[in-house]
Amino acid sequence: MPVKELFGKLTDGTEVHSWSLENGGTRLRVLSYGAIVQSLEIPDRHGRYENVSLGFGTLEDYVAGSAYFGALIGRYGNRVAEGRFPLDGTVCHIDVNDGANSLHGGARGFDRRVWDVEPFETGPDVGLHLYLTSADGEMGYPGTLSVKVTYTLTRDGDWRIDYEATTDRTTVVNLTSHVYWNLAGEGSGSVHDHELSIAAARCTPVDAGLIPTGELADVEGTPFDFREPKEIGRDIRGADPQLLYAKGFDHNWVLDKGVTAEPVRVATLRDPSSGRTLGISTTEPGLQFYSGNFLDGTLVGTGGRAYRQGDGLCLETQHFPDSPNQPSFPSTVLRAGQTYRSTTVHCFGA
Ligand code: BGC
Repeated sequence: MPVKELFGKLTDGTEVHSWSLENGGTRLRVLSYGAIVQSLEIPDRHGRYENVSLGFGTLEDYVAGSAYFGALIGRYGNRVAEGRFPLDGTVCHIDVNDGANSLHGGARGFDRRVWDVEPFETGPDVGLHLYLTSADGEMGYPGTLSVKVTYTLTRDGDWRIDYEATTDRTTVVNLTSHVYWNLAGEGSGSVHDHELSIAAARCTPVDAGLIPTGELADVEGTPFDFREPKEIGRDIRGADPQLLYAKGFDHNWVLDKGVTAEPVRVATLRDPSSGRTLGISTTEPGLQFYSGNFLDGTLVGTGGRAYRQGDGLCLETQHFPDSPNQPSFPSTVLRAGQTYRSTTVHCFGA
């Protein structure tokens, strides 16, 4: 069974716990604060374990930090232009916390909430159910949202996330996980030598504020073509305006498979030095690949080393950014009586 320990206390006295679990060769530590993956350890080709996810050693650092290390993101992952969108004939105004836009649910998103945690062991699986209620109007979003996220470690060491949410009033939902990966180990340097493949022939180009223009652009012949495994560093210094806007990759790929009832494999990340691999399968239609562009050497991670630009990367399964303002994108609207469901599976190898 997962092991619970006190991790720290918030300034108002609320206790935050860590939950450690292990199965199939994968070791995971999760915090009740932000449903944060505080560490995820997997072996390399020689069986040597390393924590491959960026994070902090203390609660104070998570509270002070702003990079969303390992966090569960909601109510809306990624950006909503100018923090407003039309919904059923009215305009909703949500918290603006990223220039003129709203990012990752607003200033106090799900990454800054304390979740209720219930451990389980079912057959060969070990995991945690995490619960959160987001009040009607919180961060500007309409409807009371009841969220249940399940983190499961399977007998094969896969880390599976099942998201579920219901509302009492029409709202928008787009949940994701914001783990920064470095398969050579957090704090070990740049991920530019990792190879990545993404099963997507198109992506959603953005404006200077990283809001999608609405266009679905072919990746063919551009730095965004990851259909065959490619080193992350190969094209990242290209002069493509899209790369300059984001200081690297920070875009949504339109997964070829679209929305699916079951998770389908969409991406593979490989670190040639350690041999570690990460495969991602999802039910979602989009994948945000963010190459850690805004890490600037000012945050010191779990192992005591500073994180610089490109020292970790995120692969966030999602609906497309700014969907509430883009009628041509798959809908993120959730109505009373419906259940939002989404699944993403991370499988590891070496
Ligand atoms: C976004 C980046 C943002 C980062 C914050 C990513 O999901 O795509 O634009 O800077 O989160 O850590």
